[in-house]
Amino acid sequence: MVRKTLIAGNWKMNCHLEDGITLAKGVAQEAKKRARKDCEFLICPPFTLLMAAKKAIKGSRVMLGAQDCHFAASGAHTGDVSPQMLKDLGCQYVIVGHSERRTNHYESDELIAKKASAAIEAGLKVIICIGETEKERDENKTIEVCTTQIMGSVPENATAQNTVIAYEPVWAIGTGKTPTSQDVEDVHAAIRKVISKKLGRANANKMRILYGGSMKPSNAKELLNLPDVDGGLIGGASLKVEDFIAISEASKQ
Ligand code: PGA
Repeated sequence: MVRKTLIAGNWKMNCHLEDGITLAKGVAQEAKKRARKDCEFLICPPFTLLMAAKKAIKGSRVMLGAQDCHFAASGAHTGDVSPQMLKDLGCQYVIVGHSERRTNHYESDELIAKKASAAIEAGLKVIICIGETEKERDENKTIEVCTTQIMGSVPENATAQNTVIAYEPVWAIGTGKTPTSQDVEDVHAAIRKVISKKLGRANANKMRILYGGSMKPSNAKELLNLPDVDGGLIGGASLKVEDFIAISEASKQ
């Protein structure tokens, strides 16, 4: 089963106009020059930079995504952005359910499923994030937690074409720590089984499952070559053109 590798950059709340444009242009240029032809690139800048980033990557192979959305199409939701607005702007993807949103904004699986469903309805592809905390890992609850999160936050209209799962152990995000390769493969394989139960085997075989959490050039080769790892959701290392592109060069041969 061929699943196209997706190298996705989650810029989080970083970059201002000038460095954001420089970063987006740099990724677009280097992706054209050096990166493997058979992998997809996505950058997810903060809302404020989406329009500028869109211009900076115009005509390149790099796609544009946002980091969150509301579930409603429009209305009285101060500070929120709808999936339709993102689509209108030229986004192809939106991340939902990142652990920083689950923690800082108390987002539940139910809310994340509503956001994902609405984004799919609006014609966007979604990256739904899941992952256990350090305490849950220590209590051997990793698979249980991921199963609950998938069952609760992947909506009924999800398919392999419109949905990507990102497995991001919370304790590995921005810490420099990563699980062992065996642990990553075991969790990804278990996630695929749960997706099969929820959405059928055909979707499970084709759906991409990204690993996220302290991915960098030095560990990318090992992680990205695991059988059930179909790309990366990259935070810190996506803010440096060289590191982001080097990660893609380490992807499956
Ligand atoms: P990190 O973040 O690569 O900085 O660990 C990944 C993420 O949170 O998506």
